[in-house]
Amino acid sequence: MGTTSSLSFFTLFLLLSPCFAISTDESTRENHKTFARVLNPNKLGLFRKEKLSHFRFYWHDIVSGRNPSSVIVVQPPSNASKSSFGMVAMIDDPLTEGPELSSKLIGKAQGFYASAAQQEVGLIMAMNFAFIEGKYNGSTITVLGRNTVFSKVREMPVIGGSGLFRFARGYVRVRTHTFTPNTGDAIVLYNAYVLHY
Ligand SMILES: *[C@@H]1O[C@H](CO)[C@@H](O)[C@H](O)[C@H]1NC(C)=O
Ligand SMILES: *[C@@H]1O[C@H](CO)[C@@H](O)[C@H](O)[C@H]1NC(C)=O
Repeated sequence: MGTTSSLSFFTLFLLLSPCFAISTDESTRENHKTFARVLNPNKLGLFRKEKLSHFRFYWHDIVSGRNPSSVIVVQPPSNASKSSFGMVAMIDDPLTEGPELSSKLIGKAQGFYASAAQQEVGLIMAMNFAFIEGKYNGSTITVLGRNTVFSKVREMPVIGGSGLFRFARGYVRVRTHTFTPNTGDAIVLYNAYVLHY
């Protein structure tokens, strides 16, 4: 009998403990009336020193074939400039360790890019790097910036992140590794420099 009751108490504890963890935090804060308050940054672990991480990977924009990772969802107007001004493409582009698509997949670049310049090829890119590798699995980095794809090196800001990348900031530098004109497929080297806690 003693075993049964202590077992059920233990089960109850297990069931309730996640609720305790949340209640002290976000869901049922005691003072429901406060919509906003100032919080001690230490509570979110911001006492730690920010670290700078460098990531290097290849971004595969596959527009050809039966399984494109990049699809045009808005066609530019037929009389648009040579820069396809107005075009919008959604991407779920593989990110790999090496330049070959068959090399280790470390995540996906999910988002979109759109042609935002009339006089040159200039994209606005908005994408999340959704990592699956090691401790970064489930964490994301968000990039929003301007990409003049025919420039040798382009730079775009890292404007935030989630998981291990909460409060992230930084930038990416990107260089085209290969561009195949007859298919439109591109492999681009990304170097990301990210400050995070
Ligand atoms: C070309 O653009 C103009 C506006 O600049 C528009 O009035 C016209 O209808 C367009 N023509 C075609 C064929 O899309
Ligand atoms: C990443 O996390 C997901 C969900 O927790 C899990 O299903 C998956 O196996 C993990 N992937 C890797 C490569 O560890």
